Amino acid sequence: LPHQPLLGRRALVTSGPTREAIDPVRYISNHSSGRQGHAIAAALARLGADVTLVSGPVSQLDPAGVRVVKVESADQMLSACQAALPVDVAICAAAVADWKLARLAGSKLKKSPGAPPPSLELVPNPDILATLSAAGNSRPRLVVGFAAETEEVVANAVAKRARKGCDWILANDVSPASGTFGGENNTIHLVTADGVEDWPTQSKDAVAARLAARIAQHLTAI
Ligand code: C5P
Repeated sequence: LPHQPLLGRRALVTSGPTREAIDPVRYISNHSSGRQGHAIAAALARLGADVTLVSGPVSQLDPAGVRVVKVESADQMLSACQAALPVDVAICAAAVADWKLARLAGSKLKKSPGAPPPSLELVPNPDILATLSAAGNSRPRLVVGFAAETEEVVANAVAKRARKGCDWILANDVSPASGTFGGENNTIHLVTADGVEDWPTQSKDAVAARLAARIAQHLTAI
C-alpha cells in the first residue's frame, strides 16, 4: 500500500459523550473520554484521509490535521454528521446519550420548600449509527460502529450489526473481569459480513491504527 492510502478519501468520526440539557444550567451526560474516537480520527488523517471529527464535550486536544466540529446534544451531533456527508467511511465511536428531555425548561428549575422534586420525562435520542447506515444515496460506503458488551460479546455484536444496518462492529468486552473499562487497553473483535477477527489486546492508539489500516485495505479493494 502507498504511504497515504486514504488520500482523496473522506471520513467522518463521532467521539465523546453527548450532553442533554435539562434547563439552562443542568444536563444529563456520561463519562466517555473521547480517547478512542479521537485516536481513530488522528489515525485516519495520518493515512491521508480528509477527516471530520464530530465531538461532544471532551478534554482531548484536537487531533492534528482534522476538521473538528464541536457539539453538545445528540440532535446537534446528528445534524453535524449529516452536514459532513458525503463521506467514504463513517465511524461512530461517540457515547450518545440514549435519552433526552421530552421538554426543555426555558429557565432554571426552582426548588421550592416542601414541593416534591421535579420528574423528568425522557424520550429516545436519534440513533446516529443507524441513521447513517440507512442514509440511502448518501450512505457512506463503509459504516462502522462499536459495541461494548459484558457477556456474549460476539453474539451480541453480530445482532447489533444487523439491527443497526452498519457494515462493521468493533466489539469489546467491558465486563469488570476484562479490565477494559477506564483502562488503557482494548480487546477488539471485528465483526464484518465475512465473520469475526479477534485482535490482540492493545492500546486504544494501536486499535485506532489497526482500524485505519483495515479501512484503507477495504476501500482500496472495492
Ligand atoms: O446501541 P448501542 O449504544 O449499544 O450502540 C453503540 C453504537 O451505536 C456505537 O457505535 C455508538 O456510537 C452508536 N450510537 C449512535 N447513536 C446513538 C446510540 C449509539 O451513533 N443514539
